[in-house]
Amino acid sequence: MSELPDHIAIIMDGNGRWARQRKLPRHLGHKSGVDSTRDIIQICSDRHIKALTLFAFSSENWKRPKKEVGLLMNLFFTALQREIKRLNDNNVRMTFIGDVSAFPDKLQKQISRSAEKTSTNTGLELRIAVNYGGRWDIVNAVRGIAEKIESNELNSSDISEELVAENLSLSDLPEPDLFIRTGGEKRISNFLLWQLAYTELYFCDVLWPDFNEKIFDEALESYALRQRRFGKTGEQVKGKPQDA
Ligand code: IPE
Ligand code: IPE
Ligand code: MG
Repeated sequence: MSELPDHIAIIMDGNGRWARQRKLPRHLGHKSGVDSTRDIIQICSDRHIKALTLFAFSSENWKRPKKEVGLLMNLFFTALQREIKRLNDNNVRMTFIGDVSAFPDKLQKQISRSAEKTSTNTGLELRIAVNYGGRWDIVNAVRGIAEKIESNELNSSDISEELVAENLSLSDLPEPDLFIRTGGEKRISNFLLWQLAYTELYFCDVLWPDFNEKIFDEALESYALRQRRFGKTGEQVKGKPQDA
């Protein structure tokens, strides 16, 4: 493949509908979604993709029935516990973005433990977005900057796109090159609002538990065929001589 993305961001959607199609409770859809998540991490790691950011729980997902939220927390806890060894075997470094302080203590501890235990790995940079919202991220960055202005570390004239970006989640990574959303919805659902400004978007109907390498390859093929212009002309991007 000619051009592989360095950083892929995925909204893993469709677990509930996958379960409903099989007349199963929704949490079994989430459980099956964990298997797809494990597979995509393995594939990205095998193919030397630099970074993968996965949307696991949005700041709006608290609005779901209490029981579903509770089951998601339990599933998240056990998945983290079980997967550490595999992540280490694959040299994957796992970190988290989002406001984890809202989670039960036990889960918060497991989150820090998982990040700590994979912290020296040098392969795939895996970011799990939990209790994450793009608007939360921007508000957080603005608050951080405002505090530095209050304490005279910064002047308002120092505010620039670079400064805002430095204060956001994922500031240590290149912005995502490819965004994938499964489950058929054509929306961002408050995922990485700032960071997706120039990301190539790929939507597919397949439900997350059915996601596999073949579908991933289709997304990569679509990405490889696109011309990223970042505001320039196609000729400029191809390096052709310009009109005077
Ligand atoms: C995505 O699947 C998983 C989470 C949001 C946690 P959904 O649970 O949103 O599945 P659908 O969209 O209802 O099918
Ligand atoms: C987005 O999916 C969040 C995650 C996949 C974690 P949702 O299923 O919550 O999004 P909406 O509600 O359909 O926009
Ligand atoms: Mg959904």
